[in-house]
Amino acid sequence: MNKNIAILGTQWGDEGKGKIVDCLTKDAAYVVRCQGGHNAGHTLVVNGEKIILHLIPSGLLHENVIGVIANGVVISPSALIEEIKMLEKHKIFIKNRLYISNSAPLILKYHIKMDIAREKKLGFHAIGTTGRGIGPAYEDKIARRALRVSDLKDEKRLSERLEKIVDYYNHQLVSFYKQKPVDYKKILKDLLPSIDLIQDMIQDTTHILHTAIKDNKKIVFEGAQGSFLDIDHGTYPYVTSSNTTIGGICSGTGVGPKHLHCIIGITKAYSTRVGNGPFPTELFNNIDEHFSKKGNEFGSTTGRKRRTGWLDAVSLCRAVKLNSVSSLCVTKLDVLDGLKEIKICTSYKDVSTSEKILTVNTINHWKNIKPIYETYPGWNKKTLGIKTFENLPCEAKNYLKRIESITKVPVDIISTGPERSDIIFLNNF
Ligand code: IMP
Repeated sequence: MNKNIAILGTQWGDEGKGKIVDCLTKDAAYVVRCQGGHNAGHTLVVNGEKIILHLIPSGLLHENVIGVIANGVVISPSALIEEIKMLEKHKIFIKNRLYISNSAPLILKYHIKMDIAREKKLGFHAIGTTGRGIGPAYEDKIARRALRVSDLKDEKRLSERLEKIVDYYNHQLVSFYKQKPVDYKKILKDLLPSIDLIQDMIQDTTHILHTAIKDNKKIVFEGAQGSFLDIDHGTYPYVTSSNTTIGGICSGTGVGPKHLHCIIGITKAYSTRVGNGPFPTELFNNIDEHFSKKGNEFGSTTGRKRRTGWLDAVSLCRAVKLNSVSSLCVTKLDVLDGLKEIKICTSYKDVSTSEKILTVNTINHWKNIKPIYETYPGWNKKTLGIKTFENLPCEAKNYLKRIESITKVPVDIISTGPERSDIIFLNNF
């Protein structure tokens, strides 16, 4: 039997999922985006060329693979078309092998305007969103007023519904946020060319995936963002608006958990976060500079500098539980090359009560939390591009073994550089 794989971020996103999805999709039949939208940024380096995908599943770079953007994703038609065109410039043609769920909600101009206006009004308390309209689009879904991909099939109905929704948004944009209104006729006019382009891709993707399962075709489910950006389990309210943990894969595709055979949790060898919100192991010193420079820690969607810190094993253990992680993948190990010592946060201390904290769910006041570290020696030898575990420096092996012993999950994949080939597999997926 083929094993289906779910790939999820265990931190705050940007763990390097895109490359792992790309590697593990080589022999798959389908690759599926399940939640989020074009707020995601998956960077791939293929033959020295950098390709950044936001909405299209990373595994689609393999030409025999079929891509699915499932019902849990919020879809901006203009972002989708832009990405298809960008890939065509790289001579990657996907139009005939990409399916889009008819029940996925749409992101339109008023969502983006609302996202930006709200962030501005929040000022110091802003979430630090990507400004892509993700939150407002998911709000429409929950409020049962969203326009969905299937609505693109009937222009008259689309126009009527759009007029009503735009009226609702303009009321808030103009009266409360003091912004200019949006014009539904203009939105419709801009939308029409993209409708023509994506018409043939619109499908019941749940049915497609169940047919694939029946035919014993291998499916890779591609998570976006990370566990602590999850709307339920993340560092609320500094989160995104979807379930980035394992449940989001099931509800976002209509495929039940018994069809997810391996759940791979991706963690960087250290931590990063973009946007605002709690980050207990955050660094503000020369190590931050080291991670930033060597790890090129700048957001692939917004270009913002990512905040950096040591690996936080307290939250990693929580992510393992939240997602039923069966294998870990440690990425960017090479970024630790050259550091004298390396730290792992194994507990927190609440400085107001001196209490030791071993799990994140009891924390009410993140500002009182201080990380408690274990310190390990670094290594002088380069790990960049190493392809076997045996060839890693002893200290790097010990670091990885310590991650296994803390989380009680095997580290089955190690990424040692940005190229597809900079990777060590310790399990035959
Ligand atoms: P939104 O998803 O644009 O609403 O942003 C909410 C929070 O999630 C912000 O802190 C963003 O920086 C963060 N976020 C959203 N998508 C990503 C991602 O793909 N990687 C890392 N952070 C993300």
